[in-house]
Amino acid sequence: QRVRAGLGSAADPGLSCKEIKDTVDSAQDGLYHLRSQEGIVYQTYCDMTTADGGWTLVSSVHENDMYGKCTAGDRWSSTRGSTTNYPEGDGNWANFNTFGSVELATCDDLKNPGYFSINASDVMLWHVPNNTPLSQYKSEAYLRYYTTDGFLRQYGGNLYSLFKDHFPIVYKGATGNGPAIPITWDNGSEDLLKSLLAPNVLGEVTPGFVHFCVFNNERAPHAVCPGLKYNGGNVEHACIGGAAYWAEVAPRQCGDFAGKDWDGYGTHTGWSSSLLELESAVLFFYR
Ligand code: G3P
Ligand code: CA
Ligand code: CA
Ligand code: CA
Repeated sequence: QRVRAGLGSAADPGLSCKEIKDTVDSAQDGLYHLRSQEGIVYQTYCDMTTADGGWTLVSSVHENDMYGKCTAGDRWSSTRGSTTNYPEGDGNWANFNTFGSVELATCDDLKNPGYFSINASDVMLWHVPNNTPLSQYKSEAYLRYYTTDGFLRQYGGNLYSLFKDHFPIVYKGATGNGPAIPITWDNGSEDLLKSLLAPNVLGEVTPGFVHFCVFNNERAPHAVCPGLKYNGGNVEHACIGGAAYWAEVAPRQCGDFAGKDWDGYGTHTGWSSSLLELESAVLFFYR
């Protein structure tokens, strides 16, 4: 990526990709420097072209070991085992921890200060095969979609506030399911999504949404259902992120991708998703 002068350069970090895009209308997709509300400078990827651009990459959810059930790398659920000792799991949906780096967003989990410090209105999600290089995140993202209704403004302006103040990711939490927000497709379609999901979940979902904080039959929370609204109780086969305990044949559903391998690894039968979905990261952007 070329070195840039002006807002978004190392010498003049922006607060968000939207601020940069609003200031420099010709800004292109790529790496920029941002600064958090507390003054921490970090580098991330800005999508400056999708639906007028201004999208900041803030996080990715990556499953590094589907056979590891709440083990190393399961930062969006529990890295400390399948246990009821930590009702919030690692708690990363609603804390100030950061990890990963922008160029490794498809190789491991990512969470930068933008996740909790940017004041945003909408989200965009990309499904990108594991180990895709930064320069190809967009072209290789077989599903790309975004919200348009400004829902984050109702929940504190970012996912940190949504989960911290409105819909905590807590095992057997008292709070009910969070909102299901309609999406606009930029790449892929409802039909493509359905062709990749576990066949058995098709009767329990409505594609065309992103759904937050969804509890399953055993009251295990899932942070995000990417691309769909989950209407039934077997949430663990289609939704990602969570806490530290899934009661159904524990620990088999414990981890960043929960029970996506219930009927075998990438078999795309029963309650198992396709291999492609199992081996892709979900990247989160704010605008
Ligand atoms: O999550 C799937 C599990 O609840 C078992 O479902 O349909 O095999 O009884 P089923
Ligand atoms: Ca795992
Ligand atoms: Ca992970
Ligand atoms: Ca189940």
